[in-house]
Amino acid sequence: MNLAVDGGRLTAELEELAAISSEPAPVVTRVVFSEADLRARDLVKRWFREGGLEVREDPVGNTFARWRGTHPDLPAVATGSHIDAIPNAGRYDGTVGVLGGLEAIRALMRSGFEPRRSLDLIVFTAEEPTRFGIGCLGSRLMAGTLDASCDDTMRDREGASLSQVRRGAGFSGPLAAVRLNPGYYAAFVELHIEQGPLLERRGTDIGVVTAIAAPASLRVSIEGEGGHAGAVLMADRRDAFPAAAELALAVERAASSTGSPDTVATVGVCRVFPGAINSIPSRADLEIDVRDIDGLRRDAALAEIEQAARRICSARKVSCAIELINADPPAGCAPELVSALEAASEALGLRWEKMPSRAYHDSLFMSRIAPTAMLFIPCRGGVSHRPDEYASPESIERGVWVLAHALVGLAG
Ligand code: GLV
Ligand code: MN
Ligand code: MN
Repeated sequence: MNLAVDGGRLTAELEELAAISSEPAPVVTRVVFSEADLRARDLVKRWFREGGLEVREDPVGNTFARWRGTHPDLPAVATGSHIDAIPNAGRYDGTVGVLGGLEAIRALMRSGFEPRRSLDLIVFTAEEPTRFGIGCLGSRLMAGTLDASCDDTMRDREGASLSQVRRGAGFSGPLAAVRLNPGYYAAFVELHIEQGPLLERRGTDIGVVTAIAAPASLRVSIEGEGGHAGAVLMADRRDAFPAAAELALAVERAASSTGSPDTVATVGVCRVFPGAINSIPSRADLEIDVRDIDGLRRDAALAEIEQAARRICSARKVSCAIELINADPPAGCAPELVSALEAASEALGLRWEKMPSRAYHDSLFMSRIAPTAMLFIPCRGGVSHRPDEYASPESIERGVWVLAHALVGLAG
């Protein structure tokens, strides 16, 4: 099949979407249900409709753009990713899978292909954990791994519940209705930048993902005693921050001492209260991200971090509350889809290799309800979650090309 991907148009669309940000370019920040996120949603929905797709949104704002197949009663095939972006992010994380998915569909339409199964392009809500502390909110709800009661229990930093925030953004209806039955989709394929350096380093065009690493997150709140930074003597202090600092070092040690480069841990959030230079911190809140492609080894590192937190806080006579926000098992990609992606890459004469995904993605949760696989393309220097994130138009075009060919096999 002769499929022509319009890389120029796709690049222009990625640029236009990147310009919608709560911070000035080149920074992309689009926190879920922020004004920037809502404007970005409007833009992509307009492009979906202009592409001839029917748009539907669920109660949490997951967006489905459908190309109806000739056999709409068959389980559909889906592709997609996310358009929300962490603070100080770049323009390719997630968006390549959404706009690349759109261009794959348009290329298929231009070729005259008629899918038997309907094809859904999905934009997942809140893949990034910035606002509610948990990633993949939309796909977790879709897969039923997160209970609908989170509507009231989940709160953002301002104390607003998910229910309040989503309704304020125009998404109503019961959260339980987001769930999809296993079998609803015949297959899900997500195109994404690698977010690591291996493809570029090895000169490979396409990464065919075989498994997605197991992520976990902890929130640790350390409570000490505040006071005047000048007047309280060192011996009398119960400063929350030095305990947090010690814990940060213990987190680093827990990951680097497993003997495997696949264990990684990050203290990405450290908030000190009240946050004034002349005030002893009475509280320090840490958010800790721990991952591994081996779930058991990840859990051992998590346990070590929890023990270290208790030990450090007890020695420093401060209290600590530990909350496990999530500890997800790793996911395997569906072997038949992995083979289909390998075959498509091979047939197109591209250099491809199998690899695990060290980042998490909505695919981690889609794999619970549908045969799932992922395609990676190289990004410059492996840089991601930074404004200088970059994937070349040629790399993106190749990814879209493989995706489109794979969709032919899956939906045809
Ligand atoms: C996804 O953005 C991740 O943090 O892996
Ligand atoms: Mn991301
Ligand atoms: Mn992403």
